[in-house]
Amino acid sequence: MKKTKPSGKIGPIQRSSLDRGSHGIDIRTTTGLLRRYVCVERGLMRMLAGWFLVAPAYETKHTFGYHVWDHAEHVDWMRKRLGEMRGGQVNASVEPALSRCVDETIHAKDASDFISAAYLELQASLLECYRDHLAAADPCANAMESRLLQRMIPDLERHVEWAQKQTASSNDHRAMIRRLIAAAGGISGLETPVKSGDIPASPHRFQRSGTILFDSRIRRAELMSYEARKSASPETARLEDFKVFFNEMYAAALLASVIYDADPSELAWEFHHDFAHQFWDEVRHSEFGAIRLKELGSAPEVCNPVLFERSQGLPILHRICYLTLGLEVYFMSRKEPRTRGFAEKGDFRSQLFADQDWSDEITHVRYGKRWVDHLLENDFRTAEDILAEVREHMGAAAGQKQDKIAAPF
Ligand SMILES: [Fe+2]
Ligand SMILES: [Fe+2]
Repeated sequence: MKKTKPSGKIGPIQRSSLDRGSHGIDIRTTTGLLRRYVCVERGLMRMLAGWFLVAPAYETKHTFGYHVWDHAEHVDWMRKRLGEMRGGQVNASVEPALSRCVDETIHAKDASDFISAAYLELQASLLECYRDHLAAADPCANAMESRLLQRMIPDLERHVEWAQKQTASSNDHRAMIRRLIAAAGGISGLETPVKSGDIPASPHRFQRSGTILFDSRIRRAELMSYEARKSASPETARLEDFKVFFNEMYAAALLASVIYDADPSELAWEFHHDFAHQFWDEVRHSEFGAIRLKELGSAPEVCNPVLFERSQGLPILHRICYLTLGLEVYFMSRKEPRTRGFAEKGDFRSQLFADQDWSDEITHVRYGKRWVDHLLENDFRTAEDILAEVREHMGAAAGQKQDKIAAPF
């Protein structure tokens, strides 16, 4: 029997745009749309991870953590749906005009301009496209995509609403992203592309930071050591514990660097998915600190980013191994006594956060084992060898031999 290639027939909505009066969307058009949506949402994951490091307000960093995970879930759902569809090759390349628009969004002058371009232009256009797609879909024939869109739309609505409260700025960068979207025929690619001549690149080029930048509320300083916390008064120990929670910014930053640096074509999507999850978890652990410090009448004011900074210059494999099989294993023995200690003092609020953190950390070590083993397939070295290389790197960075992977707090 002759093998049939995916049909080249033009579907009803390919004629012009996602017309809300149309009667359903064919498979070929749908797969093209889902691939474009994946391109935009994956691009957003990476640019938010990059800006996580340099956006000055810690609340913005925490919000980016939630949004990265929303985008990762959307990408995961759409990839799974594409895998079920005739002609749904997920890795088919996307039109360069759309890729350019996504790639250029990160290159903003500052966080305000970035939020305005990434949320109020790129995500707002994506949201509008999702709404049009849902309205054009047939509720029965397109039920699977309709269900996906109904789950994704509220997330993007929340993102855009958040951004509207952060910035009202209309700026050159945002205007340029608008022109690039129009030149790509909209997010859907189904509109007539607006020819507007050469659109020059943004004069600001984003550089992924090797440290964590903050506004003036957060200063760089040492945290109380674990030993000192154990002999401090219960009130002091609890405050210092939650300062250490806030400082999990360093772990989130390390993962942001992985999400930003990892080449999508070299590593399986599941790698990106797991570490986007872990990134979000570490962001939440930092947020636990901010929430609890405020509840205790204090506020976050210190970050010690040294563990993140010293990890820079290491390959991705080593960064993952350092965090998940080095530091997280090192910290693990503290988790159970800390959770139990809060419970014994009747401090159930602190116990709630410590309990959640303990559970998440077990998952993180599992991610580490899985991906370090995967990355070491057909490599002469073992995970132990990689940890030894990390200790050597850390020794050089600290100017002092490191017998084990440890933390100063
Ligand atoms: Fe953590
Ligand atoms: Fe962790």
